[in-house]
Amino acid sequence: MVIPFAMGKWAGFLFCLSALCFTSAELIVPTLQLSSGGNIPVVALGTWLGHRPKGKVVQVTNDTEQAVIYALEAGYTHIDTAYKYGIEDQVGRALTKKFSEGLKRESIFITTKLWNSYHEREQVIPALRKSLENLNLEYVDLYLIHWPIAMFENDTLLDNVDFLDTWRGMIDAKKLGLTKSIGISNFNQEQIQRIIDSGLEKPSALQIELNLNLQQPELFKFCRENDIVVMAYTPFGSLFPSKAQPDAPPPRIDDERLVSIAQKYNKTVPQVALRFLIELGAVVLPKSVHKERIEQNIQLFDFSLTPEEFNLLKSFDTGYRTLPQTKWSKHPDYPFQLA
Ligand SMILES: NC(=O)c1ccc[n+]([C@@H]2O[C@H](COP(=O)([O-])OP(=O)(O)OC[C@H]3O[C@@H](n4cnc5c(N)ncnc54)[C@H](OP(=O)(O)O)[C@@H]3O)[C@@H](O)[C@H]2O)c1
Ligand SMILES: *[C@@H]1O[C@H](CO)[C@@H](O)[C@H](O)[C@H]1NC(C)=O
Ligand SMILES: *[C@@H]1O[C@H](CO)[C@@H](O)[C@H](O)[C@H]1NC(C)=O
Ligand SMILES: *[C@@H]1O[C@H](CO)[C@@H](O)[C@H](O)[C@H]1NC(C)=O
Repeated sequence: MVIPFAMGKWAGFLFCLSALCFTSAELIVPTLQLSSGGNIPVVALGTWLGHRPKGKVVQVTNDTEQAVIYALEAGYTHIDTAYKYGIEDQVGRALTKKFSEGLKRESIFITTKLWNSYHEREQVIPALRKSLENLNLEYVDLYLIHWPIAMFENDTLLDNVDFLDTWRGMIDAKKLGLTKSIGISNFNQEQIQRIIDSGLEKPSALQIELNLNLQQPELFKFCRENDIVVMAYTPFGSLFPSKAQPDAPPPRIDDERLVSIAQKYNKTVPQVALRFLIELGAVVLPKSVHKERIEQNIQLFDFSLTPEEFNLLKSFDTGYRTLPQTKWSKHPDYPFQLA
């Protein structure tokens, strides 16, 4: 039984066969169409190593290199990374290894991001070239402005660089063929509208925090209307007690209602959470460095939620943000409303 999946702008079909038919070798990850052409796979491996509780960046290890290898072997076709994560070279080594074993560059979608300290128009192309050198690639599939906020390298906020100029630099980079598509991350609706109103090329994608506690329905609708693909970062939000702040709203991974949905489909609660975001129409970016979890986080296409289950998950939206970056709130382009 093959059921055409008629939601949103799916470019392909979801094959809702019995779970047994789905080994990872046969896994086909659906894609969404980008307005600039090309298709973006709806699951990507996230590669941000995260923060320690006190805000210090986790020491870089070689875990990501191995994680990317696990992901490519499990059927992932999309990797989400960024210059700022400090691990683009690891992603590059993993890709180079798999390409040498026969994996085709065209079959893999790579997203990376421009850091805040390279916002001047003339800085964009050199910054992307540096990322390409790290990644050992000739082009990326999608290049995003990581934040609308310009800074100096020493993190001092810089308020006289207009993000429209940064966007012009992104267009320059695309014209050179260094990236197939361009987009933004952490921009709010007004900021995106400003790009659209400028008459410049429109962004193809917006990457934002999106999870059970932060579903951003208005921004999502705005993106749909403007043909901008939404990418969901921190897709697990505060599901895991080890990661959740004390003030984070429910649910946690042991929520009885979620556990019972997961059991019904022989899935885990994290898989149910990812499936929900995909049914909302987003590209999900789950991060893990563990083989079993990496494999689990892409097994999302042999079940679907009933309307009742979908509505229950919808009801967890409280607008709670795990990554408000309040340290940047004085910047005129700070994108979020402070509570
Ligand atoms: N554009 C932006 O500003 C921005 C900001 C944040 C994130 N991102 C992107 O989005 C990606 C994902 O966000 P995130 O890293 O913040 O958080 P996340 O993917 O929501 O959560 C990652 C955490 O969940 C754990 N985990 C993953 N799968 C699991 C499973 N099946 N069962 C139990 N635990 C599981 C991971 O642990 P282990 O690794 O130990 O397995 C890790 O601690 C990032 O890696 C990055 O690529 C972008
Ligand atoms: C990671 O791998 C690179 C390349 O093989 C090596 O040069 C580096 O020392 C390794 N780093 C760690 C922390 O193991
Ligand atoms: C950060 O760098 C800028 C530009 O080089 C400089 O003007 C500023 O004083 C620096 N700020 C700090 C706190 O070092
Ligand atoms: C349930 O899922 C697990 C893990 O994917 C799999 O090994 C097992 O065979 C599944 N059980 C059934 C009854 O489908």
